Amino acid sequence: MSNWWKHGIVYQVYPRSFQDADGDGVGDLAGITDRLPYLADLGVDAVWISPIYPSPMADFGYDVADYTGVHELFGTLDDADQLIESAHDLGLKVILDYVVNHSSHQHPWFQESRSSRDNPKRDWYFWKDPGPDGGPPTNWVSRFGGGSAWEFDEQTGQYYLHTYLAEQPDLNWGNADLRRAMLDVLRFWMDRGVDGFRVDVAYRAMVAPQWRDNPPNPDWQEGMDPYRKLQETYTKNLPDAHVVGRMLRDVVDEYDDRVLIGEVTLPVDRLMAFYGENADEYHLPFNFNLIHSDWTADSVREHVDDYEQHVPTTGWPNYVLGNHDQHRFASRVGPEQARVGHMLLLTLRGTPTIYYGDELGMPDGRIPPEMVQDPWELKTPGLGLGRDPARTPMQWSKAPHAGFCPPDAEPWLPVGPDANVINVEVQQQEASSMLSLTKRLIALRRENPALHAGPYRSFDTPEGVFAYARQSPEDDTDRFLIALNFTAETQTWALPDGLHGTVEASARYGRRDDTVRGILALRPNDGLVIRVDHAP
Ligand code: NOJ
Repeated sequence: MSNWWKHGIVYQVYPRSFQDADGDGVGDLAGITDRLPYLADLGVDAVWISPIYPSPMADFGYDVADYTGVHELFGTLDDADQLIESAHDLGLKVILDYVVNHSSHQHPWFQESRSSRDNPKRDWYFWKDPGPDGGPPTNWVSRFGGGSAWEFDEQTGQYYLHTYLAEQPDLNWGNADLRRAMLDVLRFWMDRGVDGFRVDVAYRAMVAPQWRDNPPNPDWQEGMDPYRKLQETYTKNLPDAHVVGRMLRDVVDEYDDRVLIGEVTLPVDRLMAFYGENADEYHLPFNFNLIHSDWTADSVREHVDDYEQHVPTTGWPNYVLGNHDQHRFASRVGPEQARVGHMLLLTLRGTPTIYYGDELGMPDGRIPPEMVQDPWELKTPGLGLGRDPARTPMQWSKAPHAGFCPPDAEPWLPVGPDANVINVEVQQQEASSMLSLTKRLIALRRENPALHAGPYRSFDTPEGVFAYARQSPEDDTDRFLIALNFTAETQTWALPDGLHGTVEASARYGRRDDTVRGILALRPNDGLVIRVDHAP
């Protein structure tokens, strides 16, 4: 077991938006394959690709119509094989998205299930009679838009459950045949060489739900996501999710050296349960703490300290700053702090995940109302929930459409307005660019186990500064100090007495090889990775 995922860095690709090789304005597998050398050069270890399967695209692939195929927009199974082979040749792993909670309403399983009450696949989904008042069986609401999570089907006179869109009926993991079919999907892809899975909404999978109304959420106010009107007592984080987690892990463990990542949006104490009581569920339950934290030194330190204290000794930490469901990190915290944030991400213990384009500091794209694609924005416009801004094409160069697709093609979402300055080609030539910073940090992390695996200890510092020490996982050698200035003012911090070191990387560039001792002055929005030469 090499446990590559412990020291590795995961890079998330949203396949529609990475590289369009065939000129239809939508990214594809051949495009990703073409760009693998870029990822290898960046120094990441694995590429996680959001869903590539046949799908009517009601939720851009998170509505799967065939778990063992490839959408024609993205290519063919041969293209998938080619991608896996090329990635492996370059030393990169491939992680696929596995949509555990629901399929598409166009999946043949659902088509059969809805065809009659006594169809053998009826029970592969959740079908219920109307409630006593003739309406939906429970008050559960759909994640997108806050309407009922139940859709009435005229043909058979029953409702089916859909936690997300009506086009995304929930799968019943209580049914043994469904389970077998879904678990075989994992084997299908691992047999083709896939190195692991990111399990979509892993904390929602249901085996034997109680059909009870969810209580109202007293904190809900007008202007908030309507879906949050109710608490989710009976719809998420049920013991069922752990039953399913263990089943998935059992299958993943049939193969060598694969990784199981779970999308679990829960507070830290409940997140920990997804490692499994006997370390038998997810290797990495996604830690969204840094996404949900206020971007201040105090708040971020609190989150990291808290998380570090909770991760079980049999578990492994992980961190992420952005993904396809959130506003871009650079837009949330600003371009200067985006650099500080990546210094943090790449110097913490555990496995970091980088969202495509974040290594350049790509901000949210601008989506004119007539170009909105995301069903969430279409259902609840104007609340800032839309996810299109974070899904705009990767910015490769100054070429038309930022090099994402051929000049005569029309990208499916508009290219960001700043693509002329924020792109790979330009940033590769600038030693001070965010891309160069990310590469430097990745290289440092790879060379120094202290930075990816060593213990973490934070310091009490003046407000606005977050500082922590890392050292070799084996002994107290190979020590590093990371000091991050979360403010737009200069900050000073008196280093521990007698400590001196050498700067290995600075978030704002230009301080490499500086010697530091005594009072450390941090420029506005700067951060330093310091190799400790001497400590008391
Ligand atoms: C979480 C995914 O990240 C998101 O993009 C998707 O819409 C929902 N799950 C539903 O599958």
